[in-house]
Amino acid sequence: MLRVLKKFQHLRCFSSAALPAPDVNPPILYTGIFINNEWHKSKSEKTFPTINPATGEVIAEVQEGDNADIDFAVEVANKAFKRHSPWRTMDASQRGILLNKLADLIERDHKYLASLETLDNGKPYSAAYYVDVPFSVQVLRYYAGWADKNHGKVIPADGKVFAYTRHEPVGVCGQIIPWNFPMLMMTWKIAPALATGNVIILKPAEQTPLTALYIAQLTKEAGFPDGVVNVVPGYGKTGAALVAHNKVDKIAFTGSTEVGKLINQNAAKGNLKRTTLELGGKSPNIILKDVDLNHAVETAHFGLFFNMGQCCCAGSRTFVQANIYDEFVEKSALRAKSKTVGDPFDLKIEQGPQIDEQQLNKIMDMIKSGKEEGASLVTGGERIGTKGYFVAPTVFADVKDDMTIAKEEIFGPVQQILKFDDLDEVIERANDTDYGLAAAVLTKDLDKANYITQGLRAGTVWVNTYNTIISQVPFGGYKMSGHGRELGEYGLQAYTEVKSVIVQLNEKNS
Ligand code: NAI
Ligand code: MG
Repeated sequence: MLRVLKKFQHLRCFSSAALPAPDVNPPILYTGIFINNEWHKSKSEKTFPTINPATGEVIAEVQEGDNADIDFAVEVANKAFKRHSPWRTMDASQRGILLNKLADLIERDHKYLASLETLDNGKPYSAAYYVDVPFSVQVLRYYAGWADKNHGKVIPADGKVFAYTRHEPVGVCGQIIPWNFPMLMMTWKIAPALATGNVIILKPAEQTPLTALYIAQLTKEAGFPDGVVNVVPGYGKTGAALVAHNKVDKIAFTGSTEVGKLINQNAAKGNLKRTTLELGGKSPNIILKDVDLNHAVETAHFGLFFNMGQCCCAGSRTFVQANIYDEFVEKSALRAKSKTVGDPFDLKIEQGPQIDEQQLNKIMDMIKSGKEEGASLVTGGERIGTKGYFVAPTVFADVKDDMTIAKEEIFGPVQQILKFDDLDEVIERANDTDYGLAAAVLTKDLDKANYITQGLRAGTVWVNTYNTIISQVPFGGYKMSGHGRELGEYGLQAYTEVKSVIVQLNEKNS
């Protein structure tokens, strides 16, 4: 318990509540399509299974949304967005009250939601309880505060006009999310969209639909009007139907770079939808020789292995200065070896299974390529057991920049440790990637930290920490890690159009 608490304490979302025993068999209450505040079966009557990644067993069959269900959701959402609808005429403060109410309901069901997330996603219950649920609540409350504060401006002009801007909602927003942080990605998407008065159709990942469906029901309980929040589960083609629909105004996506590119192309066809994309990464974590070695090893370990390595911002290229390289590798291998892997409901467990067989196979192929291309495997490298999708915490040393494991996103518990000599060299190598989501530098020397942070091309740069993501601070990518920002005040821009109003002033004094 103490170790668990300590692990997440530096994350700002961390909740210090005592960890209650999980609900290892949480009831599965909602498996339908949520449109217009009602539950529906898919029009095609198709369903798909959602799997427990710790066992490979089916948890439940979920209704699979198709083009016809997306058409229905889009029609309902457009109706909810009509000019005189309850949602469009609602006092802005009231939207904040509804978001806060939703946050209250998630807090009420904290243990249930953490248990459901663990069952469907495989992440350790301690992480779901201490990170995913409280961070979701925090993001909802943060944007609740913005609902009545997203002001336009009065703009000085030539004196004959009164000019001002209004920040108006974009309209019907399609939101397509991945499986690595199911409820967190949902709240990151819906909170700014709803605070600014949009209506949404969310497509959860096919691997992890259950918490999104439960939260859909909570939005109804919170009092959001009919048609404002709609959730249509299904595979990639359900998402593609949303992207292709001409009555959807915007797509927000988090997932693979490959699908992000497709979405951008397809969103441009037809009605030229707005897009925001949060995609992959190959983030560098740069460790200078002056560090406290144990702290650096732990920070780099957490930066890569958190959430089974399934983080878009995972510190997957650990660059270590030559003088401390060997000792760093040795300690990192020991730390990885000490990691407890197994049943994610077990409170002592630090690492659960990977999300599915496809990801497991991708990771095993990456490990194979690392060995074949000449990296030194210092620990791990194998699958654990045959039931569920567990991978032994793996560390590669002597990794070279042109190896596949140093270039491609692995999305698994596989750390690459590279060696460097001086700062300009490491900045250049760190930037020599198609990605630019996050980066970190660990050093006691603030001048060096500053020099490196200025040189790195990444949306977030951490200094002496990793994975510290905060509701108030924007998050998003340079280069092929995407465009647009989520979180913070900047996150509002993705969900607002700026309308300029220019009023001619006629001089009349009687
Ligand atoms: P993916 O990009 O295929 O899936 C993400 C979401 O997009 C899911 O909801 C999926 O149903 C939807 N989707 C898939 N194809 C679509 C299409 N043509 N149009 C609209 N929506 C579509 O990612 P996948 O296959 O689950 O994982 C593959 C790799 O992507 C991972 O190994 C990892 O490298 C990366 N990834 C990155 C994430 C991030 O947080 N940036 C999250 C998940 C995966
Ligand atoms: Mg699942």
